[in-house]
Amino acid sequence: MSLPDLGLKGAFRALELNSFVIDCKQIHLRELLNIDETPCDIFIVRDGLLHRLLEKNTELSNQTVRDWAESGVGKLFIKNRDHKGLREKQHENLRANTRSLSIGEPIDKGRRQTALLATHLKYFYEDTTNDDLLNLLYQSVRSFAHFLMAQIKIHGLLYSDFTRQKYHYIHCQPVLSSLFLIGVLKQARIFSEKDIENLFVTSFFKDVGMSSIPFEKYSLKELDVTDKQLLINHAQNSVNILAGRIPLTANCLKIIENHHSFSTLTRELEQFTPDPPQALVTGIETTLTSITDIIAAMISERPYRPATTLFQSLDLVRELISAQHPQEFKLLISYFKSYFSKGKSN
Ligand SMILES: [Fe+2]
Repeated sequence: MSLPDLGLKGAFRALELNSFVIDCKQIHLRELLNIDETPCDIFIVRDGLLHRLLEKNTELSNQTVRDWAESGVGKLFIKNRDHKGLREKQHENLRANTRSLSIGEPIDKGRRQTALLATHLKYFYEDTTNDDLLNLLYQSVRSFAHFLMAQIKIHGLLYSDFTRQKYHYIHCQPVLSSLFLIGVLKQARIFSEKDIENLFVTSFFKDVGMSSIPFEKYSLKELDVTDKQLLINHAQNSVNILAGRIPLTANCLKIIENHHSFSTLTRELEQFTPDPPQALVTGIETTLTSITDIIAAMISERPYRPATTLFQSLDLVRELISAQHPQEFKLLISYFKSYFSKGKSN
């Protein structure tokens, strides 16, 4: 092949790759789990060139996906038009697992549900006006609340397994904080099953307003001022997205609106708010929802800070609530000390 031929070929490849990138969507490896056969062609980009990794309708085992993960296959792409079909496969997986939560090995069912819920939160953040998707998530989260109430002993295993999966924090934080919350609410022994279900659902959906910031920006070490202001408003955005679409009570919407009452984030961002909010008198439900959210966040790494220890997070909680909410503080300390000291998280 002559040099001019090579030049033309390179230019053609560059054009081909460019047009593909415009027309494609990056997916995560875990979106290919439990689908048996590929609903579309799967591509990778290697050395700047496009490769078809698998053709449509190819058999695909979970082991193959895990092997790809271990061998460093990172970014996978599909055509934009094919994403709906792939999502449908995962919707069916979520429906099937939700229907059969009480059948089989609880730890396997719980693991799969946490994974599917995190993946579906990602889908919802990308498509917050989709009522069918919101309803599927809502029904799945409600059923999961009842499953978790009956399976207190596996919460620790679910937590440690889920944190090992390395989900992006905006998709895993609601799952982790809600997992903590439901354990705390059960231990409090003052809430009915219905109350606990409602609060679990509330906690799970409280951050959907974060979808107003483009996903890629959450991987930056620092957001710009505009995005910080959007972040300040995420609790209110969550209410705007959810109100009237799923059956959350007025009290639950209020909890979502105020779920950062104690947060260090709120204080950090007050400098960007023209009128800082008045100090709120918070009820026990808001306090527990907010504090379990803070603890789950603090003990997890972020792109802009390392994880703290549980002890450090509880120390901050003491500063934040021990004077005004001594009973809630005692409950939280007792729950988290026993949660981690029994080695449940290992
Ligand atoms: Fe939040």
